[in-house]
Order: sequence, then structure tokens, then C-alpha cells
Amino acid sequence: MLGPGARAVAHVEERARAVARRYALEEIRIPMLERLELYERSSGETSDVVQKQMYLVRRHEESDPERGEMALRPEGTPGVVRAYIDAGLDKSDPEQRFYYLGPMLRYERPQKGRYRQFHQFGVELLGRADAAADAELMFMIDDLRRDLGLELSFEVNSLGDAKCRPAYRAALLEWGRANLDQLCEDCHQRIDRNPLRLLDCKIDARLAESAPKSVDYLCDECRRHFDLVRELLADARVPFVVNPRLVRGLDYYTRTAFEVVSTAVGAQNAVAAGGRYDGLVAALGGSAVAGTGFAIGIERIALALEAAKVAGARADVVVIALGEKALAPAVAMARELRAHDLRVEMLSPERSLKALLKRADRLGVRLAAIIGDDEIARGVVQLRDLKASSQREVARAELAGIIRTAGD
Ligand code: HAM
Repeated sequence: MLGPGARAVAHVEERARAVARRYALEEIRIPMLERLELYERSSGETSDVVQKQMYLVRRHEESDPERGEMALRPEGTPGVVRAYIDAGLDKSDPEQRFYYLGPMLRYERPQKGRYRQFHQFGVELLGRADAAADAELMFMIDDLRRDLGLELSFEVNSLGDAKCRPAYRAALLEWGRANLDQLCEDCHQRIDRNPLRLLDCKIDARLAESAPKSVDYLCDECRRHFDLVRELLADARVPFVVNPRLVRGLDYYTRTAFEVVSTAVGAQNAVAAGGRYDGLVAALGGSAVAGTGFAIGIERIALALEAAKVAGARADVVVIALGEKALAPAVAMARELRAHDLRVEMLSPERSLKALLKRADRLGVRLAAIIGDDEIARGVVQLRDLKASSQREVARAELAGIIRTAGD
């Protein structure tokens, strides 16, 4: 990524960190490499992510004393939970609010919005079993959406828990067996191991409409939890719909699951997704601690923003030196302006003034500060406004202030 695309990504990352700050989240830095087994036990052996999308890493030596294959992280949640247990936090201080921002790797057929290396901004709230934690996650995404001026819509569902999921699973299995001839190859493989995946069948999206819905199988506690999540979202005016077919592609989810979609991104329209994973900490060897989280696809959000528009110009002003003698004073002036926290670009002095102004215009920079021998002698600068096609002489001492107000 480069140019306006890269700037748009950086802009989204910056706004995401600002949201993290307001929600009192703490950064967690997780490694790129984890044991393959960690993902098999959390993301799920039957998930596409584990079955088809993992990059495995082999040590060069034939005899690896550590054994066990390593994998490049396809998502952040398992690594966060592993680190949380390793640090003993599940026992000593279970309530934690983490965020992470970094690259994830998945084998994909690359296309617009779908990459083999992409970035996630993820949040994991551990030790929070209450519905308010689920709602708060969606508030974070809604805040970011507002901050960036995006239209997004939320889809939520409840997948039940260890108590009520088995009945739903059985109902889906029965439905799947009855409709097996209409389901895809993958579904034939996974029907017994994970019937929830049937709702993602690639062959016939309409068929899924006749499938049993998890919300019809919820136990009382799960139903109350789901009702409360929806109430909290409605109170906060987060626009959402209940999507009873939303199952998520990863195995650890319990109760709340959600996806956030943008109509602006095209086919790859899921810009964020998450949900509750109350059994995961225990499944990975920790105590029985609840958890809930989400991850945003940074590039997808950036795409939805129309990269060029948000990114704007990379500089507030370009500095142009007229003639060789003006070069050193121009460099000094650029440094002075940067000390005022302005974004300043020196243009290559080897071209004509006309060519340099054209270049500034192409970069979308509005102002050009031009100095030659005469300006240096008099302590002034010619400040050209490329948008207004006007030029005026300003005192060196006032330059930074004038550039700043021009940008406001
Ligand atoms: P996920 O749905 O696999 O969930 O990914 C979350 C987001 O990452 C997607 O909604 C999408 O925006 C982005 N994404 C995924 N794959 C790609 C790709 N190949 N190219 C570009 N963007 C992509 C998770 O990863 C869970 N760990 C979320 C979570 C956190 N659940 C609980 N806590």
C-alpha cells in the first residue's frame, strides 16, 4: 500500500487508537507466530481459517527439538487469550480490556478488500460476562464510524451457550441430513463435526432460510442476555438488525455474535465482526472466565472511506528555493516550519519555478513558500496560494501562523 491508500489506512488506525483511549483500553502486543495447535483449539479445526487459510512455518533444521508446527497468526483472539493465561491474569486479575492493531495473514484469493496480509484493530474484553460489555463493543465501532463519517449497519445474533447449543446443533444436523443433496462438498465434510457451518453453505444461500434458527433454541439466560444487548443498542441508537443466519466462521463464539457491513465496499462488505467467547479461556487451559471482542478490517474501512478523499494532501506547504544560494536558507525555513508542527515538503530545487508549482498542485498542496536572494535579504517569503491563484509577500516571522490559519 502506498500513496493515498496508505494514508487512508494510517488515518483509520489513528482514529481507532483514539477510540481505544476513550474506552480505557490497554494495548496488548501479541506475536506473529503461535503454535498451530492454538488455532486448532480456538478458531476451530473445521473453520475455513484453520483448514484452508493458515500459513505454517517450519524451522530450517530437520530435527526441531521444539516439535509442533508454528503458524502465522490469521487472527488475534487466540493469541490474546493465550497471553492472558500465560501471564496468570485469569487468576490474579481477570478483568482486562485489551486492544491490538497489526497485520494478520490468511491464504486468500486476493481481490479488492480481500488480502493475504491485512490489518486488524481488535478489542478483547476479558472477565466480562454481562450484556453491557457486548453492547460497549458495538458502541466502539459506532463511535469510530461516526468519527470517520461512514455509513455502516450492524447485524446481531445469539448462538446460545453450552447449555442450549446442543439442542440447536441437533436440530441443524437433522435439517442438514434431510437436505444433504443440496449442500456443497465442504458441507458434506463438516456436517457431523460442525453443523453450524451449514448456514454458510456456498451453493444455495436461499436454502439456509429453511434452516432452524438459533434464537428459537435459546435457554432463559441466553435469551435474557440477548434481549438486554438489543435493548442497550436501541437505547444508544445504534442501528442494527437481527440476522438469525449469522453464525460466524470461527468456533469459539457463544451467545452474542455480530457483523458490521458497509454497502460501499462491494462484495467484501464485512468491515468488522465479533462476539462473545465465554468458553475459550477454559478451553485453552485457563480458569472459567468470560470474554467478548471484535476485530475491524482496517483496509476495508479505508476502502469504504474512498481513500483519496480522506487522505487529503500529505503536506500543508511546499518550500521552493530559487537559485543555489537560497537553498540553505530554504532548508532552514522548512525546519522552522516543522518546529511549528506543520507538514512541510522541500521540492527538488533542480527544476523551473513553473514546473515546481505544477508539482505542488498535483500533490494537492495548497501553499507554496518561495524564497530567492531578494526575499532572504529582506526577511520575507512569497507565499503562493495555488487554490486561489494568488500570491503575497509575508514576513518570515509570521509565516507559520499564516500557514496554520490558511489550513483551518
Ligand atoms: P473475522 O470475521 O475473521 O473475525 O475478521 C474480522 C474482520 O477482519 C473482517 O470483518 C474483515 O473486515 C477483516 N478481514 C478478514 N479477512 C480479511 C482479508 N483477507 N482481507 C481484508 N480484511 C479481512 C476475527 O478475526 C475475530 N478474531 C474477531 C473477534 C475478536 N471476535 C472476538 N474477538
